[in-house]
This record gives sequence, C-alpha cells and structure tokens, in this order.
Amino acid sequence: MPHDVVFSPQAEELAELARKIADEYVRPLAARHDKEQTYNREAAQAVAEAGLFRTFIPEAYGGHGAGVLALARVTEELARADSGFGVAFAVNALGSFPIILGGTEEQKQRWLPQVAAGEKLVAFCLSEKFAGSDAQGLSVTAREDGDDYVICGEKKWTTNGGVADIYSVFCVTDPTSKSRRISAIVVEKGTPGFSVEKVEDKMGIRCVPVVETHFDNVRVPKSNLIGGRPGMGFKHAMMTLDCARPGVAAQAIGAAQGALDLAIAYSCRRKQFGKPISSHQMVQQMLADMAIKTNAGRWLVYAAAAGIDAGGGDKVSKMAAMAKCFATDTAMEVATDAVQVFGGYGFMEDYPVAKFFRDAKILQIYEGTNQVQRLVVARHLVREARELEHLDEFIPHEVQRTYAEAEQLVENLNT
Ligand code: CAA
Repeated sequence: MPHDVVFSPQAEELAELARKIADEYVRPLAARHDKEQTYNREAAQAVAEAGLFRTFIPEAYGGHGAGVLALARVTEELARADSGFGVAFAVNALGSFPIILGGTEEQKQRWLPQVAAGEKLVAFCLSEKFAGSDAQGLSVTAREDGDDYVICGEKKWTTNGGVADIYSVFCVTDPTSKSRRISAIVVEKGTPGFSVEKVEDKMGIRCVPVVETHFDNVRVPKSNLIGGRPGMGFKHAMMTLDCARPGVAAQAIGAAQGALDLAIAYSCRRKQFGKPISSHQMVQQMLADMAIKTNAGRWLVYAAAAGIDAGGGDKVSKMAAMAKCFATDTAMEVATDAVQVFGGYGFMEDYPVAKFFRDAKILQIYEGTNQVQRLVVARHLVREARELEHLDEFIPHEVQRTYAEAEQLVENLNT
C-alpha cells in the first residue's frame, strides 16, 4: 500500500526530515558512538532543530500534535540507521506520556514546551532491581512532608539517564493500598539527593545511556505529582506503555529494515560459485522471508499506532502489545539472518550488521518483555471471549461455564 494512502502529509514530512538526519548525522557516527558508548549529541541537536521532538507533543504545548503514527514513522527512520539512536529519540516520548496523558494543565504548560523545543530531554523511571515485569512491585517511596514529597530508593535501567533533564519517577505513596499504591512524580536534574550512579556497559544500543538513578531524600514540591492526585501512577504507567510500545515496535521495524538493507546490498556484490550470492535460491529465500516479516510487522505497528490516534478504545493495549511483540521478535530474526547472509564477515565488528544483531536483543526485553506482551494479549482474548457467545452451540455443554467463571479461572492462574 502506498504510504500517502495512510499517512498525513505532515507525518511523511516529519519522516522525511528524520531520514535526512539519519543519513547525515546518525548512520555515519553510529559505529563510533557504539564503540565509545557515547551519546550522539550531534544527531540529537539536529533532531531538535528539525522540530522532531515536537512530533509527539500536543499543539497546545508547542508540539506538532502529529500523534503516535507520526512518532512511529520518525522513530523507524532513525532506527533504520542506528537502533540505539531510535530509542534515544523515542524514550523522550515514553518519559513525556505520563505528563501528556495524566498531567494537570499547569504541569503540561511547565514541562512540555521545553521538551517540544528539544531544550530538555526526558526519561522514564519505572523498573527497579526487584521490580521489572512486576511493575506494581516497586519499592522506591515518596513520603508526604508538608508541601513536599521526599523520595527514597533506587531505579534500574533508566534509559537516557544522565542526559535527560526531566524524570517521570514511579514511587510508592501508599504502601497500604493495593490498587492506589503508586504515584508518578517529576524529578528534575539537579534536585539535591538525585544522582545517576551505575552507567551500564551494554551488549547493544550503546549510544544511549542506561543507568541506575538514585534518590536519597529527594525533596520535590507536591505540584510535581503527576495529575495532582496520588494513587494514579500504575494506571498512568500502563496508559503510557500502551502509547509508547508502538514506538519501540517502530524502532524494531527500522532496525529490521536497516539489517535487511545491508543484507541485500551485500548479497548483490558478494560472489560465490561464480555468481552473486543473491542469485542463490537459499539466500533469496532468506531475503524474501526477512522482507515479508518486516513488512508484516510494519503494518501491524502502523495499525496499532493509528488505533491509538483514533482515540484508543479497549483494544489499544492488545494492539500495542501485539505490535511490540511481533515487531521486536521480527527484528531479532531479521538481524540474525542478516548476519548469516554476511557469513564470516557478519560476525566481525568491522561491519555494521553485527551491531544490528547486538542492538536487536534488548527490543524483546524492554518496555515489557515479549512474555509480558503475550500475557497482555492473552488476557484481552479471554476477556473478549464474551463476543464469541454465538459459538456456544459448538462447545460441548459438559465443559460450559459462565464467561465470568472462566475469566476468574484465568485471573487466578495469572496471580
Ligand atoms: N491502561 C489503564 N489501566 C490499566 C492498564 C492499561 N493498559 N492495564 C492495567 N490497568 C489497571 C487495571 O485496570 C487495574 O486497575 P484496578 O486496580 O483499578 O482494577 C490495575 O491497572 C492493575 O492491573 P493488572 O492487575 O492487570 O496488573 P498486573 O500487576 O497484573 O500487571 C502487567 C500487568 C501487564 C504485567 C504490567 O505490570 C506490565 O506491563 N509489566 C511490564 C512493565 C514494563 O513494561 N516495564 C517496562 C519499563 S520501561 C522500559 O523498559 C523503557 C526503556 O528502558 C526504554
């Protein structure tokens, strides 16, 4: 399907700008930043100057209000050149979504215009050493003290940590509550007691810092509590991930396309048995499968993103999880096959295809492991089983239960 059937001219314009930046500032510097584990400031500056950080910020706060589909297109183009830079960009949306989706008007006015202008970068602090997939199991606390919250504890795997200025931090504000335990609070860089500690030495996405963030009696005003009402943090985190997962999925599709591009280019030039390996049927089959999977994932990502832009509805989590899971599994498969097409050269760090392979693995892990995505999808399928009541006559009546009973059985298994 031609792109202009689906995308607004604005989304394509933003994607075109991203492609130019990818060609000029991202791909040529990717190997160096990967080796040295340094942040690609030149590219981030170019992204800011081109107004690409405005993509996901609503118009009322200085953004383009271009939506999640445009965010996906921009991320895809950047990740096609360097998957690490794709997340260095997209994580700003992840960190901003709690404010966009749950913030008060005053909070949106305070922080979002600076993000839109590219003056301030954002990070998302949810995971902890003992709370990864179980995002409700947090232990970082925020205690009320007069007009302030006082935050104590450590966060793990904060992407963009150190370079970011604004941190959306998920904290326990009511340890006695089951469903209203967690709140999201903004902490700004430079607040006394806030520090970036261990900078991780990573297998891939080495151009973006992933760190531990420590909170040692960090005092912030209550006006930094996102939404102004405590206890909404877990919902804000889940809503955020629903909107952000198509972004990580788009990063995966960009990465898959980048690896495929290299495999095609190499296979047309590399000769074995007297002809380019691209004319050998076994290589052709690999290239074809890589392209088919990448395109299948791409359109699933676009569908999920378009669904969110169209107002969501109760199927958004499922679509976002499907897209994240399929696209990131695809990126890993395609990058693995791209290395295979390169043969011995693919295993060497002299060529960029090895980096695509290393970068791909984290995609299946962060923003919810692909096991968590499958859990989200399966829970939705079971909940939607009520829509299949018309099939009851084909189900043996001995096994029939009410749908409420069946859902309860699945819930019990999941807890
Ligand atoms: N939207 C709104 N509310 C939601 C929701 C959604 N999508 N999903 C769940 N909720 C609500 C539920 O309705 C429920 O509300 P009530 O208490 O009022 O009934 C509440 O949240 C709890 O829901 P669950 O019982 O389903 O929660 P759970 O504990 O079983 O967890 C989970 C569900 C899907 C496993 C969730 O914990 C999860 O997504 N885990 C993965 C965490 C994750 O993705 N971490 C990534 C960190 S960020 C990162 O990696 C980025 C990076 O570095 C770049």
